[in-house]
Amino acid sequence: MRITVFGANGPTGRHLTGQALAAGHQVVAVTRRPGSLTPRPGLTVAVADATDPVTVAPAIEGADAVLSALGTRFSTSAITTYSASATAITDAMAHHGVKRLLVVSSSIADPEWRPSGAYFFNHVLDPLVNRRLGRTLHEDMRRMEGVIRRTGLDWTFVRPSGLFQHPVVTAYRTAETSADGVFTARTDLAASMLREMDAGRYVRTAMGVITTEVKPSIAKLIWNEGVRKK
Ligand SMILES: NC(=O)c1ccc[n+]([C@@H]2O[C@H](COP(=O)([O-])OP(=O)(O)OC[C@H]3O[C@@H](n4cnc5c(N)ncnc54)[C@H](OP(=O)(O)O)[C@@H]3O)[C@@H](O)[C@H]2O)c1
Repeated sequence: MRITVFGANGPTGRHLTGQALAAGHQVVAVTRRPGSLTPRPGLTVAVADATDPVTVAPAIEGADAVLSALGTRFSTSAITTYSASATAITDAMAHHGVKRLLVVSSSIADPEWRPSGAYFFNHVLDPLVNRRLGRTLHEDMRRMEGVIRRTGLDWTFVRPSGLFQHPVVTAYRTAETSADGVFTARTDLAASMLREMDAGRYVRTAMGVITTEVKPSIAKLIWNEGVRKK
């Protein structure tokens, strides 16, 4: 298949691109920083700002599916990256007759999501980090889901929990709406997207994805995601 990947240069997008190429797909990798992607057989780099309809459309033309793992950082100001890119991407897909869209969202987008047995996370980290520091980001993620829901596309919202780096794909779990767990390895997130692209088990609904075989330490996660990533 020919797949357009948004956020291809990000920590999840790199796994997505690598796994898709390894599976024999042709990948159009969308980035605003083309020099940072190494040329490989099967890979085409498209330079585009995902919020700009003019640059997005050519990256989508001729695709069999569009996968998005793009993202931005927490901010105290309003964030529009998710909803604006969803508008540009879905408009271009409708224009070019591309139907299948898988887009990374978050477990937080499910208002009922409270992973079981995670007292410290549910009562301290989640209210402080996700609902307070990440408030404007998650508001825009919900707007993104609203934009996509209103289209006639075959969409899937892919909702991971706290992302961490792990070298290999594990026996991850998926569930409709959201999954009962605090963590998701980026390798598993990427693998679940490619599997769902083929399987079509969660079309026009949300797929939660979690990793249960390995766990990062909370301190390591905060260091890697909150401090080192900046
Ligand atoms: N961190 C967590 O615990 C967590 C939990 C649940 C969900 N998520 C979500 O999971 C997704 C993936 O996270 P991640 O940490 O792997 O990636 P990320 O660092 O959030 O971002 C990935 C890429 O998005 C691209 N991007 C941002 N704005 C863009 C724009 N306007 N046009 C084109 N590309 C743009 C950037 O690529 P270029 O600079 O190359 O253009 C960047 O490398 C994000 O949406 C994140 O919010 C994260």
